[in-house]
Amino acid sequence: MTALLVDRIGELVTNEPGGRDPLAIRRDAAVVAVDGRIAWIGPAGGAPACDVRVDASNRAVIPGFVDSHTHLVFAGDRSGEFAARMAGEPYTGGGIRRTVATTNAAPDTELSANLAYLQRELTRQGTTTFETKSGYGLGVEQEARLLRIARQVTAETTFLGAHLVPDEYADRPDDYVSLVCGPMLDACAPHARWVDAFCERGAFDADQSRAVLTAGIAKGLAPRLHANQLGAGPGVRLGVELGAAAVDHCTYLSDADVDALAGGDTVATLLPGVEFSTRSPYPPARRLVDAGVTVAVATDCNPGSSFTSSMPFCIALAVREMHLTPAEALWCATAGGAAALRRDDVGTITTGAAADLVVLDAPSHVHLAYRPGVPLVHTVVASGEIAYQ
Ligand code: NIG
Ligand code: FE
Repeated sequence: MTALLVDRIGELVTNEPGGRDPLAIRRDAAVVAVDGRIAWIGPAGGAPACDVRVDASNRAVIPGFVDSHTHLVFAGDRSGEFAARMAGEPYTGGGIRRTVATTNAAPDTELSANLAYLQRELTRQGTTTFETKSGYGLGVEQEARLLRIARQVTAETTFLGAHLVPDEYADRPDDYVSLVCGPMLDACAPHARWVDAFCERGAFDADQSRAVLTAGIAKGLAPRLHANQLGAGPGVRLGVELGAAAVDHCTYLSDADVDALAGGDTVATLLPGVEFSTRSPYPPARRLVDAGVTVAVATDCNPGSSFTSSMPFCIALAVREMHLTPAEALWCATAGGAAALRRDDVGTITTGAAADLVVLDAPSHVHLAYRPGVPLVHTVVASGEIAYQ
């Protein structure tokens, strides 16, 4: 039995549900983790002796970030595409094909090394739970390979064979959908928890996305969807109808989309790194929160539309550009991400939850948005162990 104590916490963000303050902040607190779980929360100085002690010295402590949307298994770089966008080119998603080519040409060792590098980036920036997906293989063996590699680092793996129609199927996209729903799903389902599709003009329409999600559900996968990123469309409503845990992007929403989200239990996952990196309008976060929709904020870390692994950066964007308060943005990046992954063991600092927490080099969580671009992660505890200091 290993016990770890984080003591002398100035501001403890617990996200304990039920109170009036969604962050449920406690002051002058201490937390004890035993065998990877939170075992005790109480006043600073009042905790039992432990094997390991972290002195927070009146800093703020928050739950580890839950990044519920990333694409981390790939090879290559698309910085040229980013530079062209900043010079006025639009983002269309077509660059995905370039990453598919470099990814499929890379050996497993290179993909695993890239993934490990990005995972370290996430950890150093306070992320303790993350989802990641396939989608840069677009073939049966290729997609299964990406998921096998992803499974080595996270249980939150998503099958995204329906990311784009590969060139060889350009004139018969429904044959590609049949491949995705049949042999590709068979090969991928053992390595995935989730099934996803890119429901967007130029990618997959509502019928094709429905076919993929329905086939995945029949194989025991849980649905989520990329929707309404590049324009208005049916994706958000389809996701709600199919009981998706989350619809991701939500950049262009109609009144009917907001009503559907407010009437269901699908989380709206907002990915402001995409709008930053594609110079697009930001999603209507304020409107969603005010309508009572559960919102998550995630990075979408990928080499095309958003090559950031930083949840603090996304929080700063959510506050400055999407009009969330610092408290709301932090909730969306922790408890909101947990809701998007249908997890109740992460995203909070409550007894029995995973002992995943971040000591900030700041007296308050507000500094995450108030001091954008400043590395404020002092110590990361993941499953009760010091993962970064
Ligand atoms: O979530 N929207 C589709 N997929 C990714 C982008 C992938 C890429 O550009 O490589 C996204 O933004
Ligand atoms: Fe994505």
